[in-house]
Amino acid sequence: MQAPNAAATVVTRADITPPMSAERARAIAEDFDLRRLPRDFLDNPFPVYAALREREPIRQMPDGSWFLTRYADLVTVYRDAATFSSDKHVEFAPKYGSDSPLYEHHTTSLVFNDPPLHTRVRKLIMGALTRRAIADMEPGLVRLVDSLLDRIEAQGGGDLIEDFASAIPVEIIGNLLGVPHDEREPLRGWSLAILGALEPVLTPEQEALGNRSVMEMLDYLRGLVAHRRQHPGDPEHDVLTRLIQGESSGDKLSEVELLQNCIFLLNAGHETTTNLIGNALVSLQEWPDQKAWLLQRLDEQRHDAEAQEQTLAVAVDEFLRFESSNQLGNRRALKPCEVGGVALPEGALVTLCIGAANRDPAQFDDPETLRLDRPTNKHLAFGFGVHQCAGLSLARLEGRIAIGRFLRRFPQYALTAAPTRGGRARFRGFLAAPFRT
Ligand code: HEM
Repeated sequence: MQAPNAAATVVTRADITPPMSAERARAIAEDFDLRRLPRDFLDNPFPVYAALREREPIRQMPDGSWFLTRYADLVTVYRDAATFSSDKHVEFAPKYGSDSPLYEHHTTSLVFNDPPLHTRVRKLIMGALTRRAIADMEPGLVRLVDSLLDRIEAQGGGDLIEDFASAIPVEIIGNLLGVPHDEREPLRGWSLAILGALEPVLTPEQEALGNRSVMEMLDYLRGLVAHRRQHPGDPEHDVLTRLIQGESSGDKLSEVELLQNCIFLLNAGHETTTNLIGNALVSLQEWPDQKAWLLQRLDEQRHDAEAQEQTLAVAVDEFLRFESSNQLGNRRALKPCEVGGVALPEGALVTLCIGAANRDPAQFDDPETLRLDRPTNKHLAFGFGVHQCAGLSLARLEGRIAIGRFLRRFPQYALTAAPTRGGRARFRGFLAAPFRT
């Protein structure tokens, strides 16, 4: 725990964005291999992304797969789900072994499937994430955030991730699936291990931990599902009851589909939302002018809750663009095709670099600058097309309430040590960020 009166650590943009020569940019692009990342990449991948976008926007890597960094090319791929499959059976069999828990999990979750499984599961989930259902979550979310802020205030500080950012999604997603409060403790660890196993390169330890976490989560969920079958909730709000009951047409999920998609849901809204909140609060330390602007604006609007909400909504989308929680996505070409003037063969494995597309100067003015009043912001942080994030409204609500209430309560907060990065290429965020109020 952070000592309340520790000195503030000043983090500046210059520390994280060193300038780069044209020669260096070319060398970086030509050398880029997702499986052999440069040492400082995880701290600051953006110069590498910029070099790739300019020099080799559709780069074939040594393993034969393709790495895309331009906004327009990502949109082309996202739009064409008939050509670019999300099904990961081919890709994950050699990665995890086709009889492993990680393989069964990832190849059964909706995000890594095409129709018909994708469509069936998505419809069930979306039916419980309606605008009204999300609005109904707001009072509970405000109470939760305020109780975390009270605790932080009493301590004079704490850790932005452990004491705040990560404590919010675990409760929200726990509520969504009706996980009893005293059973939520292992959820974050499982989620980090299972999503961590999606990294481009895995150590045997990470793989073993991922497999063990799927098994433990399955064990846990079998009990939860059995209980809910006996005591169904309100399907208008309770996603688990909806997934169990299936559609009125009688199209039910199999037991494996049900359990694996519950695991996915519990994980999908977890690390991503933690990172949205954590990245935003760290970014504001790196951009003090933006922090001052946002505070002033919220103060000017203090008698107009709707205007404040709109200001925060625009700011949250800018945080999502600037430091996207999910930096990479994947697709596989089902037939020969062309993207951005480059011919891709059938079977081509494509990595979509969301983090790079979201800083593409062809799409965003002054893309390397955090502008919390950015007027138009069609970022790809939630993906795009048929697989676009099913929880985006919920994530935005969590972001607005958590970031807005934190800032208004602790306008002078400051980091007291350099934050610790999560160490992942796919999910961008921090493991720890000690601060004082
Ligand atoms: C800041 C927070 C979040 C970010 C950045 C994020 C990002 C994403 C992205 C990029 C995808 C698309 C993956 C692809 O096309 O391959 C996705 C899908 C998905 N997300 Fe989120 N997500 C967030 C929060 C949430 C939350 C809170 C939930 C749960 C309620 C959720 C549930 C889902 C689901 C179910 C899918 C799969 C949709 C499909 O395949 O049709 N996400 N998310």
